[in-house]
Amino acid sequence: MVPIPKIAAGSEFGPLRVRRGERVFVLTGAGVSAESGVPTFRDAGGLWEQHRVEDVATPEGFARDPEMVWRFYSQRRLKAREVRPNPAHLALARLGDRLGDDLFLCTQNVDALHERAGSKDVHHMHGRLLSTRCSSCGRAPFDDESAYETAPRCDCGALLRPDVVWFGEMPYGLPRIFDALEETDLFVTVGSSGAVYPAAGFVSHLRHIGRARCIYVGLERPDNAHSFDECRLGKAGELVPSLFDVT
Ligand code: OAD
Repeated sequence: MVPIPKIAAGSEFGPLRVRRGERVFVLTGAGVSAESGVPTFRDAGGLWEQHRVEDVATPEGFARDPEMVWRFYSQRRLKAREVRPNPAHLALARLGDRLGDDLFLCTQNVDALHERAGSKDVHHMHGRLLSTRCSSCGRAPFDDESAYETAPRCDCGALLRPDVVWFGEMPYGLPRIFDALEETDLFVTVGSSGAVYPAAGFVSHLRHIGRARCIYVGLERPDNAHSFDECRLGKAGELVPSLFDVT
């Protein structure tokens, strides 16, 4: 029988006990950065209400109009300079200090707020906003904070592109992610609508393995709520700082 998740205000739950040696996997989505002023994708006023996904977040959109795509990401780069980590990012950085390699912090976000909060090993499965790569040659992606008015080119002559994963492309490092999921004792998703796969399917994969406690923290019930043990509703910046009790 599939258990029914407990869905309630975050204040109704106690802290999550983490014992030494237990492996914790935290998956963050746009909601973890919302209180820092980074717009989410699917909320009212979110990025996908103002821009067509097909135009700015697909390889086909880039092939059609690279300048428009670069303008979109350049605006986001400029905005990224203004934002600061919030208490949720800071709490996850502290958790990393306590747990070391026993924490796998995986984010769908392209912002650098986890790193700026002090997290050391962040897996950016959808890439990084402040990184650029060639659309053609094997040159390694490089750190790049530039905002471009026209589409820049690589030394090889091909167009450079933002180092972000677009719809229809493979997220980065899936084998590493699935290896970490296999060993996970406690899985926590923070601020993700559960609408975009494969990230939205990590929790059902864990259900299948049958070992990890699975907890959601965010403003509203996510689309994949049925796969979690608990959905703790509230703001990440308010709930995450007291979420973990490491013993
Ligand atoms: P969404 O915009 O789909 O969902 C954000 C979630 O955060 C929603 O469920 C909100 O309820 C919640 N939320 C908003 N404010 C919050 C707060 N202060 N505290 C906690 N939760 C809050 O963003 P993602 O699920 O991250 O992919 O989107 C997944 C992927 O879809 C993105 O990485 C991006 C996008 O298309 C690509 O671009 C490939």
